[in-house]
Amino acid sequence: MNDNPILVIGARGKTGRRVAERLTAAGRPFRAASRTTGFDLTDPATWDAALDGVRDVYLVPFSEYTDAATLRDFAATAVSAGARRIVLLSARGHDGVHPLQEAGETAVRESGAAYTILRPAWFHQNFSEDYLLPSVLDGRIALPAGTGREAFVDADDIAAMAVAALTEDGHEGAAYELTGPEALGFADVAATLAKATGRDIRYDAITPDDYVAALVAEDVPEHVAVMLTDLFQEIADGKGDRVDDAIPRVLGRPARSFAAYAEEAAGTGVWT
Ligand SMILES: NC(=O)c1ccc[n+]([C@@H]2O[C@H](COP(=O)([O-])OP(=O)(O)OC[C@H]3O[C@@H](n4cnc5c(N)ncnc54)[C@H](OP(=O)(O)O)[C@@H]3O)[C@@H](O)[C@H]2O)c1
Repeated sequence: MNDNPILVIGARGKTGRRVAERLTAAGRPFRAASRTTGFDLTDPATWDAALDGVRDVYLVPFSEYTDAATLRDFAATAVSAGARRIVLLSARGHDGVHPLQEAGETAVRESGAAYTILRPAWFHQNFSEDYLLPSVLDGRIALPAGTGREAFVDADDIAAMAVAALTEDGHEGAAYELTGPEALGFADVAATLAKATGRDIRYDAITPDDYVAALVAEDVPEHVAVMLTDLFQEIADGKGDRVDDAIPRVLGRPARSFAAYAEEAAGTGVWT
């Protein structure tokens, strides 16, 4: 164990916030980094201050569009500054890494740091802390996911895996696929949310074209709308219907279910 601060990028985001909470509880020093703390992953002028004295880095790229060259340059700068370990938040694809994240993974693998790759499924918290929250509040989740299933995973389990990889030996070189304990269709998700909230919430399977049009009407840039639609199409095609045991294997306990997440989130009042 070292006393150098662990750099937590995206420490206000869905996983970074939970990584920061877990490090605080464990009494491990860390440095929170996001634009509100003066760190911008896309601005190299902000990197040195964030990396000062750091040995371990939790690297959240923020977006499927983060340039792999940015990740490569950041990882190289981190290693030059003394970082030895990088834990990268990537995403799972149908067969290993998701194609949108492949170049970012390669950048980190080639950085010279010891690395661990986390490849999560879709997060539970998209329904309470991100872009699906308004749909839940409307009582209508309209997506082009058909009857496909996804093995949604909890952001707190991702954070627990990140902290394990950041603070324990034995995870170097691993690429962990992170899923919940079961794959669910969006109709199951809507029913579970309805039960937890006591409200009417339904799922409507809509066409890809209708979804793109709806997002564009909400001022989402068209390329982002198309990318999101393609991701839901992957679920419709059955590519998310796969459960992995990395979380129970590493953490020694089951992954959190969507129902447990929904009950707890409902208790916070986020859907009232
Ligand atoms: N959501 C999912 O279901 C899912 C599934 C699989 C993989 N992923 C991957 O997870 C990663 C994180 O996505 P997320 O949606 O969960 O985001 P997030 O971690 O919730 O990140 C949002 C945070 O990022 C910070 N941020 C944004 N741009 C920044 C920049 N240029 N420099 C520094 N900080 C910045 C913001 O804080 P400030 O405003 O303070 O900057 C914000 O709090 C993505 O790469 C995505 O591909 C997501």
